[in-house]
Amino acid sequence: MGKIREMEEEDLDQVLEIERQSFPSPWSRKAFFLELKNTFSNLYVWEESGKIWAYIVWRSIAGEVHIINIAVHPEKRRKGIGRELLTFCLEREKNSEYAILEVRASNLAAIELYKKMGFVHLTTIRDYYTLPTEDAVVMIKELNSPDFPVE
Ligand SMILES: CC(C)(COP(=O)(O)OP(=O)(O)OC[C@H]1O[C@@H](n2cnc3c(N)ncnc32)[C@H](O)[C@@H]1OP(=O)(O)O)[C@@H](O)C(=O)NCCC(=O)NCCS
Repeated sequence: MGKIREMEEEDLDQVLEIERQSFPSPWSRKAFFLELKNTFSNLYVWEESGKIWAYIVWRSIAGEVHIINIAVHPEKRRKGIGRELLTFCLEREKNSEYAILEVRASNLAAIELYKKMGFVHLTTIRDYYTLPTEDAVVMIKELNSPDFPVE
C-alpha cells in the first residue's frame, strides 16, 4: 500500500529519475528546489516500501489551483496512482474555485486521465512547448462555484 506524503529535498534524486523517464524536456533539480521553497507550491510524493514511485506539484493562489507537474514511474503506470494523486490534490483544494493545467497535445494518457477526473478542454495554445515544439491543451475543472450575490 502506497502512501502520499510531502516531498522533501532529500527525495529529489528519486524524483528526478522519474522526471527524466517521463518528459521530453524534464524539470531540472533547481526547478524542483525552487518549487519546494515557493510558499504557494504544494509537492507530494507517492511512496511504497521506502521508494518513491510518483509525485504531483501544484500551485494554489487566490482560488486558482494550477497543476504544474505529475508523473508516475513507468513500471507503476496504469495502476491508479496518477488518479490517486490528482484526487488527493482536488480534495485538499476543494474550496478553491477551479483547477487548471496544460498538457502536450500528443499526451493522450494524461488527457484521458484528466477527462476522467472531470477536466474539460478550455483552449489550445499554439507551440507552447519547446524541445520538441508542440501545442498545449489547457484543461480546467470547476471545484467550487460560490453563489455570488445577485442584485
Ligand atoms: C499521465 C500519468 C501521470 C498517468 O498516471 P497513471 O498512474 O498511469 O494513471 P492511472 O492508472 O491513474 O489512470 C487513470 C485513468 O487515466 C487514463 N489513462 C492513464 N494512462 C493511460 C494510457 N496510457 N492510455 C489511455 N488512457 C490512460 C485511463 O482512463 C485510466 O483509467 P483506467 O486504467 O481505468 O482505464 C502517467 O502516464 C505518466 O506519468 N506519464 C508521464 C508524465 C506525464 O505525461 N505527466 C502529465 C503531464 S501533463
